[in-house]
Formats: sequence, C-alpha cells, structure tokens
Amino acid sequence: MTEDISSQGEQHKQQLSFGVDIGGSGVKGAVVDLNTGELVTERFKILTPKPSTPDAVAEVVRKLMDMAEWNGPVGVTVPAVVKNQRARTAANIDKSWIDTDLQELFKRHLGEREIAVLNDADAAGLAEVEYGEASAKEGAVLMLTFGTGIGSAMLCDGHLFPNSELGHLPYDKNGDVEWYASSAAKDREELSYKKWAARVDEVLHAYSALFSPQRYIVGGGISRKADKWVPLLTVEQEVIPAKLRNQAGIIGAAMAVRDGIKP
Ligand code: BGC
Repeated sequence: MTEDISSQGEQHKQQLSFGVDIGGSGVKGAVVDLNTGELVTERFKILTPKPSTPDAVAEVVRKLMDMAEWNGPVGVTVPAVVKNQRARTAANIDKSWIDTDLQELFKRHLGEREIAVLNDADAAGLAEVEYGEASAKEGAVLMLTFGTGIGSAMLCDGHLFPNSELGHLPYDKNGDVEWYASSAAKDREELSYKKWAARVDEVLHAYSALFSPQRYIVGGGISRKADKWVPLLTVEQEVIPAKLRNQAGIIGAAMAVRDGIKP
C-alpha cells in the first residue's frame, strides 16, 4: 500500500507515505518514513482557506501533494468526528463538512489512490504510541492537543477509543472547555502562560475526576513551549509533552493509510 523506494539489497528500506494534517489555521503535509516515523521532506504548510469548505481544503491538500512531488497513498486528518469515513461534526472548520463523504471528496480532488481519513487528535495519539513517548502505550493515557481547539485521544495500552472529543466537555453556560482553554483562547484573550495554565489545570482536574488516567500527554503547537506551563499544573498525574510535538498529526495520518485505519 505504501511506496517502497529502496533498491534491492539496500540495508535500510524506507517505507514512505504522505500525511496531511488539516487544522483550523493551517494545512500541513510531509512525506513520512514509516520505519522511523521521521519526516523525509520539509513540512509544507498552506493557510487553511476561508471559508474552509471541504472542496477548498481538499484543493489545498492537492497543492501540498504537488509541492512534495508525491503520487502515492495519502492519509489525512480532519478536526472532526469521523464515522464510516464521513465527517460528523465541524467545530473549527466550515459547517458544510458535516456529513461530507470524505473518501468521495478526496478521491475527486486527489485522484484514485489509497486514502484514509481520521480525526486529528486520534492520529496524533496513534503516532505518539508508535514513534513518540514510550509511556503512551502503558495503561490509560489521555493525549490532548492544544491548538485552535482541544483535541483528545483516549488510549488504553496503546489502543485507541476513537472520536472522544473531550474538548467539548461543557465548561459553563457560555461554552465548552475548548472555548475556555485552547491555545486559541490564550491568544484571543491575550492570557499569560500563568493564567492560561490555570485554565488548563481546571480542565485536567475535570478529566481526572471522570477518567482517572495514568498520565496526560500534551501536544499541539504550544507543547513546544511546555516548560512555560506544564510545571504549573497541579493534577496528580504526570503531564508529559508529546515527543513528536505538532508533527504527530502528519505522522499519524501517514500511518493510518499504511494500516488501513478508516474510522
Ligand atoms: C474538534 C475535534 C478536534 C479538535 C482539535 C475540536 O474542535 O471537535 O474533532 O480533534 O478540535 O483540532
């Protein structure tokens, strides 16, 4: 299913796949070596079109493939619940994603090829399990991604309970925890790391009361600055910055098409 570009007799065989991570602000893609989980091209990025309709975004995915000169299988993450390869929600993307047939959409824009589409945080969780943080596969783990929204991957011994959407736990009558504590909320309200970390802490306490995970793994762009906020958290569980940082979505997307993960 994936492309094997190695020549016979070569010691290290590259098993290449293309992963694309669709976010509320950017669409990013790269060729991934699935033997190592490393990107073998640069990470190409195009701003998420406005409005972020399925057709406009799928065209951007096509452009990323062209930029990477890729013509093989493609894995794609979307910031949405994916069931039977249809998007069922659309919190931070255009509402017209709801009920879109994702295989039909991407085949129409990318041509006949193997395609897999899954939730962005689920992809990030699966990538951390395979290539990232070793303790991601031990026991009950909640992986959270902080970006435009809050994404979640619920993991038990490395197995995924898909589409958990913990960012949409209600916070108060005005909104959900994602509205309150995503990194977009930090930007929107110009919160200091200290003030924002207190919000994240509140959210983690709520998750701990519900799920008692063994640990949290935190990803998304803001995990690059983990030293500024993770030490301020007071939950009893350890909170570990994702090893793959915000490349986990791309890597998880590439894995999904290799493994035929098509929720
Ligand atoms: C979406 C999730 C997504 C998360 C992170 C939320 O608004 O509902 O599906 O995983 O944002 O992008």
